[in-house]
Amino acid sequence: MAGTTGEPNHPTDPFGPSPLQDLMYGHIHGAALRAVAVHRIADHLGDGPRTADDLAARTGTHAPSLRRILRLLAVRGLFHEDDRGAFRLDDSAQALRTDAPGSQLAAVLMITDPMFGRSTDGLAETLRTGEPAFELAYGTSFFEHLLKAPEDRATFDAGMASMSGPVEELVAQSYTFPEGARVIDVGGGRGGLLDAVLTREPTLTGVLFDQPATVAEHLLDRPGLAGRWHTEGGDFFSAVPPGGDFYVLKHILHDWSDEDALRILGTIRRAAAPGSRLLVVDAVLPEGSAPHPAVNVDVVMLLAVRGRERTAAEFSDLLGRAGFRLERILPTPTLPSVLEAVAV
Ligand SMILES: C[S@@+](CC[C@H](N)C(=O)[O-])C[C@H]1O[C@@H](n2cnc3c(N)ncnc32)[C@H](O)[C@@H]1O
Repeated sequence: MAGTTGEPNHPTDPFGPSPLQDLMYGHIHGAALRAVAVHRIADHLGDGPRTADDLAARTGTHAPSLRRILRLLAVRGLFHEDDRGAFRLDDSAQALRTDAPGSQLAAVLMITDPMFGRSTDGLAETLRTGEPAFELAYGTSFFEHLLKAPEDRATFDAGMASMSGPVEELVAQSYTFPEGARVIDVGGGRGGLLDAVLTREPTLTGVLFDQPATVAEHLLDRPGLAGRWHTEGGDFFSAVPPGGDFYVLKHILHDWSDEDALRILGTIRRAAAPGSRLLVVDAVLPEGSAPHPAVNVDVVMLLAVRGRERTAAEFSDLLGRAGFRLERILPTPTLPSVLEAVAV
């Protein structure tokens, strides 16, 4: 039977493995990943392999369907099935477990959430108009929606914290702050990066600034940090706390068009004294079309918000127009770089 070995039998056989086949079914793979994440299947695989029947009994799911979904995800390398029909997690998929160090479960639940799924459905319309598919699906902008939808806000904030968690320390260790500096993390989410920065240098103080509902869920209540931080809820298009020696913008500018990014930078520039520093923590795209992991995020930005990933030249231009001079770009061991600019 054609294609049963996974090898094309003929140059025109459409069923052999190919990028086209893979992409055509890509949304099914994402949906299968979401299904096992929603039902916390991986949480039951921390202590060894289990059959689909066993996993289904433990998770209240339908065993024959679970078997088929796990078989699909095994083809993608997420699980491995042994000759007894028991499944185990691939080492790279341990992060699907709730209690794994650096768990990515909340990140998976965010990226595969209908918030993005419904937007993805409208990408062809985005391609025609350039407008974010999210706005066509929801009738409002992404961050306006989050202000009105507490459950989606919680899904997004938890997903961001999960996605950012494993990289905060890697970012923090890539930049040395001077003793006694005051660091203001603008759009700092639940405070993971501020936590890592304050933990590394005990003389620093910090402010976590984000929307009120987000800072209300901050994670900074830790003994080693006591008395060195406070939170402020607000809108970074209106005002940010003054008096920072350092302002940090991590994964903020990529959410916004140049016009809106300039408004955010303008607010910070008004609050920042000349000589104070701005650290933009974002991926830096290479010039041209060289493969880069940030292109996934770039298309999420295209369909959900009006932002995009940028090159070093584009960051330099943007910062210059807002009254900051880009001085250096420090690589980190992970995706984002630290772009250090000074208020002029
Ligand atoms: C992509 S997340 C980045 C969070 C965090 N910096 C990180 O890297 O994990 C964008 C953040 O911007 C915040 N944000 C969006 N619009 C805002 C506004 N108008 N004022 C303040 N914060 C805002 C969101 O609440 C969210 O926490």
